[in-house]
Amino acid sequence: MPRNFQGKVIWITGASGALGRASAETLAAEGATVIASSRRREALPEGERIIPLPLDVTATGAAEEAAREIVSRFGRLDGLVTSTALPIFGDFLSLDDAAWQAVIDAKLLGTVRLVRAALPHFISAGRGSIVVLSGRGGLEPSPQHLPGSSVNAALILLVRGLGAVYGPKGVRINAVSPGPIKSPRLDALNAAGTGQPPQTPIPGPGLPTDVADAVAFLLSDEARFITGANLLVDGGGRALS
Ligand SMILES: NC(=O)c1ccc[n+]([C@@H]2O[C@H](COP(=O)([O-])OP(=O)(O)OC[C@H]3O[C@@H](n4cnc5c(N)ncnc54)[C@H](OP(=O)(O)O)[C@@H]3O)[C@@H](O)[C@H]2O)c1
Repeated sequence: MPRNFQGKVIWITGASGALGRASAETLAAEGATVIASSRRREALPEGERIIPLPLDVTATGAAEEAAREIVSRFGRLDGLVTSTALPIFGDFLSLDDAAWQAVIDAKLLGTVRLVRAALPHFISAGRGSIVVLSGRGGLEPSPQHLPGSSVNAALILLVRGLGAVYGPKGVRINAVSPGPIKSPRLDALNAAGTGQPPQTPIPGPGLPTDVADAVAFLLSDEARFITGANLLVDGGGRALS
């Protein structure tokens, strides 16, 4: 059964990034109206069914205001994808409080704020689906990426907890954890790392569209009995650890 997002409104934050943009394009191609958010208006995708809505997830009240604006402009909200991150990598001893705080604020608290802003709309509609971009580092920490890996672990736990609470209200929430995906972020991580690219049984790196397909599946009605889950899109890399 082909997925069909016709008439659905999906909000993606981190949409100027490699994986957020691929998710926006995949969902729009499958019929969704996509609201594309991140801080840089000029970097956001735009199209017939992709509408840019600039947003800084670290700004107090900004996520709630954006959620209200989407519902008032489009009359509904069916799904949320959180795909924010900062390219902060390095040895543990080289990363100070400010570096840790920035990663926590943009990705962990950013996701918390977005979910908190969207949930009331989903609950009142009695349906909704959320996909949180975490990362394989949340299960197998990367030494050059400990702030991001720690936040990813927290997000996987958050998704499990929220899945249990909001399933009875018709809201599903799942995580997607990419492994190495061809992207500027992977290039930056490799440049900061030991030079040993992560190994995957399926030759990698994966493509942003591999992640976008997983996101679209979890958002769709095909995943109606799935919540609180963490779907690895890592070419099987976890199996080697
Ligand atoms: N690429 C990979 O190989 C890989 C692997 C594992 C996990 N992941 C995870 O997958 C997600 C997406 O990765 P990616 O490769 O697409 O990363 P990316 O290209 O670096 O994109 C990150 C996005 O976050 C946005 N952002 C950062 N701070 C923000 C803020 N305060 N408010 C709103 N938006 C903000 C950025 O846009 P602006 O700068 O315009 O705000 C950008 O759109 C991330 O959570 C990442 O950790 C990626």
